[in-house]
Amino acid sequence: MTILDFRKRKTSGLPISIVTSYDAWSARIIADSDVDCILVGDSAAMVMHGHASTVPASTSMMAAHISAARRGAPEALIIGDLPFLSVRMGLPEAVRSIAALMRAGANAVKLEGAEGNLELITHIVQSGVPVMGHLGLIPQSINAFGGYRVQGRGEVASMRLLDNARSLEESGCFAVVLEAVPGKLAKRVSGALAIPVIGIGAGAAVDGQVLVLQDLLGLNTQFTPKFVRKFLNGAELIRKALNRYHEEVLKRTFPLEKESYE
Ligand code: KIV
Repeated sequence: MTILDFRKRKTSGLPISIVTSYDAWSARIIADSDVDCILVGDSAAMVMHGHASTVPASTSMMAAHISAARRGAPEALIIGDLPFLSVRMGLPEAVRSIAALMRAGANAVKLEGAEGNLELITHIVQSGVPVMGHLGLIPQSINAFGGYRVQGRGEVASMRLLDNARSLEESGCFAVVLEAVPGKLAKRVSGALAIPVIGIGAGAAVDGQVLVLQDLLGLNTQFTPKFVRKFLNGAELIRKALNRYHEEVLKRTFPLEKESYE
């Protein structure tokens, strides 16, 4: 999969699957699966570092996670998330951040929001960096939204979102993530754009889906949003394995002779 395949997949009607990874081991497993590409999301701040939001993510944190994922998946298409405010401190600073993520191993970057970012997006795209947009519930704006709430409800909000999606396409984005928006609106946005719309909590009538790996594997033992499906009960399986290990240590049935050196 390359960036050029995104539009082809939309034209052919074959949805795109994306999952997050922040490290080498999971990137290696994803690369061995049928999943189309990897997003090193700034959700790393929450999932890997235990923060309450994505706001604490920094360029150096993202670069470290991207380079780990790249080492695990040398051939995969990796999209790296630009962290909170990294593109809002002027062009030179934004370009420095983008260069750091690309040098760490990203093939493309994702940035949240359209308003105020369009000139920058055009500049980056013209500089040879593919850009994925992100609209709807953009988690870096959680403080402005007053919580994790569905976005794009009502005529004014849905029109604004549709306009923003069109602007992202015109500015050169190769795809747009739509997060936590009503399915009908997501379908309308997808129909209005030539580039793929990748949904997360945006219903099935879009051009692809993205999920956080730990959510889909059932490893997130905290709050689970309505849009997450657990394809595995990972936390339960891991707990059982840990308890078996503990028990075998107590019983001295681990390690066996074949697991020991003569
Ligand atoms: O940071 C992230 O993981 C994301 C996706 C869930 C869209 O932005």
